Amino acid sequence: MVDSTAPEDVEVLKQFALGKYGADLQAKQDQIDSLVKEIDGKLSVKEQDTGLAPISEWDLDADEALLGENALHVARIQKIWPKQEDDEDDKYVISLYQMARFVVGRNENLAPTDVEEGMRVGVDRRKYQITIPLPPRIDPSISMMEVEEKPNVTYADVGGCSEQLEKLREVIELPLLHPERFVRLGIDPPKGVLMFGPPGTGKTLTARAVANRTDAVFIRVIGSELVQKYIGEGARMVRELFAMAKSKRACVIFFDEIDAVGGQRFDDGAGGDNEVQRTMLELINQLDGFDSRGNIKVLMATNRPDTLDPALMRPGRLDRKIEFDLPDLEGRAHIFKIHAGTMSVAQGVRFDLIARLCPNATGADIRAVCTEAGMFAIRARRRVIVEKDFLDAVEKVIRGQVKFSATAKYMNYQYS
Ligand SMILES: Nc1ncnc2c1ncn2[C@@H]1O[C@H](COP(=O)(O)OP(=O)(O)O)[C@@H](O)[C@H]1O
Ligand SMILES: [Mg+2]
Repeated sequence: MVDSTAPEDVEVLKQFALGKYGADLQAKQDQIDSLVKEIDGKLSVKEQDTGLAPISEWDLDADEALLGENALHVARIQKIWPKQEDDEDDKYVISLYQMARFVVGRNENLAPTDVEEGMRVGVDRRKYQITIPLPPRIDPSISMMEVEEKPNVTYADVGGCSEQLEKLREVIELPLLHPERFVRLGIDPPKGVLMFGPPGTGKTLTARAVANRTDAVFIRVIGSELVQKYIGEGARMVRELFAMAKSKRACVIFFDEIDAVGGQRFDDGAGGDNEVQRTMLELINQLDGFDSRGNIKVLMATNRPDTLDPALMRPGRLDRKIEFDLPDLEGRAHIFKIHAGTMSVAQGVRFDLIARLCPNATGADIRAVCTEAGMFAIRARRRVIVEKDFLDAVEKVIRGQVKFSATAKYMNYQYS
């Protein structure tokens, strides 16, 4: 029997495992590691690892100045005492959150017109002076909903639907641009619009076009964002949303998929109204609350109008209801042209004919057809999309996906 622990055998085995250059490579690796360590030490990478900024970015002077500055307290003005004969200035009763009430003065840089009762202000804690007015408190999750950069969708990107667009502009743009026309006639412009129709007919798209068009601040809320875990949270979000809207010069609030909160009220049998209903009631309350000649317009979109609470839709709340129906032949051809416009398509494709081949298709279906036609062209290694690709795509998308179409179902609840 071979003694496997014999020294020369062990040597052979080791060579097997390491290969010819194993030991050399290992030595080099160790050398590299130690060099890297040395370089890291010299670059003071250690400091970055501990979360400190690199020394080159330190600004000790500014930090010292910041420390010297004294922080302001946030307080709310409870009452303003106008100036008496022997006072030099007005006095203010403020309440500091969870602390106490104080009577304080006003910083000389602040005009008396800048502060009002009930306002949040920043108070200097040493001199007890009101130093700056603060905006109303708004939940950060709500200020996130404000859309700052305009979407790059315009009315020209919406095919068909010209009637719907016309109605929408009447409600949204006219009162914001020419309020005096309504004042002259003595009528209130509509406060809000409900857009409804089968999925994929361009409701969200249209709202984005509106956002692009108006100079108003656009706030976009998805119904499901208002469904919260704790009691009263959803309602509070709605309230703060409208508070934020009121602080703007002009504002459009767009509630997408409103069916998430706008459902009909029912008794769930557990003895109480549920949270979602409470959110909707707050929404109704807010819709009633603001002056319609004011600067807030409300847009809502849903594809289940039958489930909405009638209270939400009574005149005076959402006065206008605009149906986004399936596009007609002309509309379909238009949508085809819009989507094909950004692709490289061979000349002379008969979009009217293709549109005729997909009855009951929505805008989203048509977009899918265009994409699929592009795929056919890629498969055939062509640079342009030809008519045959479109015909194949219609076959595949419209015929092939009938089973998945939500349109038939929508038609059921809508017209049964
Ligand atoms: N009328 C239309 N014109 C052009 N494209 C459309 C139209 N309708 C739908 N689309 C296409 O379908 C996509 C989905 O439409 P969307 O507006 O989100 O539907 P929904 O009505 O369900 O909100 C859009 O991004 C757009 O590309
Ligand atoms: Mg949508």
